[in-house]
Amino acid sequence: MSPLLDAALAAARAAGEIIREHWQQPRAVQHKGRIDLITKTDAAVEAHLRECLDALLPDVGFMGEESAHSLIPEGDCWIVDPLDGTTNFVHGIPFAAVSIALWQEGTTRLGIVNIPMLDECFYAERGQGAYCNGRSLQVSNIVRCEQSLVATGFPYDVDAQKDRILRWLGAVLPQCQGVRRCGAASADLAYVAAGRYEAFYETGLKPWDMAAGWLLVEEAGGRVTNILGEPLRFGDAILASNGHVHQEMVDLLKAFL
Ligand code: IPD
Ligand code: CA
Ligand code: CA
Repeated sequence: MSPLLDAALAAARAAGEIIREHWQQPRAVQHKGRIDLITKTDAAVEAHLRECLDALLPDVGFMGEESAHSLIPEGDCWIVDPLDGTTNFVHGIPFAAVSIALWQEGTTRLGIVNIPMLDECFYAERGQGAYCNGRSLQVSNIVRCEQSLVATGFPYDVDAQKDRILRWLGAVLPQCQGVRRCGAASADLAYVAAGRYEAFYETGLKPWDMAAGWLLVEEAGGRVTNILGEPLRFGDAILASNGHVHQEMVDLLKAFL
């Protein structure tokens, strides 16, 4: 493990401790949109990470969900979702993660997804494999959708995208073992890397939802593209899989765009 990953992991674990402390406290919930929630925890974790990560690499920028002005990284930067799964956090559901990616020269170099309430910290450096709590990760070897557990998520502007989301669900659900919507995209991607899900797809994700998990999946031997099977760019709907079921998922999803 590089000293940089070691230091970033320390920052991610300390961020997880903030979430654990706040877990015991009453939630003061505000709305960014009709169903898009924010708590003091989102801001506190982002402030902590900004301080730590700025100190680690002073020449690299910082793109955090709660302070970002753009939906595309401008140059090399940390891409941070301080609390991925805020709705889960508000309702006391432990599937909530800290997501940290280091974006350099147009790709993710380092990714961390820490799920403090489940005591699982996933991490990867490009070319070095993916790990969870020190254990090496490998995507699953299931080759057919009918043996697959698939995860998805729904964007906050679900009203505007409802028809397409339901068409995709209608296409995928009867063809696989089940569809999960656990509510934290970075953790969904980590679960693909860990071989728990065979595939994950979602539209409307932002860079901070997907940058770290994207690297985890690739470093665990999986594949990440847009929904058409083309190279993924921020802003695209994402499809991540163990690689074996990728084309079958593309065929299911692209028929219902
Ligand atoms: C959300 C979660 C959720 C996904 C949403 C995201 P947030 O992030 O990742 O699973 O379906 O699209 O916005 O708001 O909890 O950080
Ligand atoms: Ca998020
Ligand atoms: Ca968030």
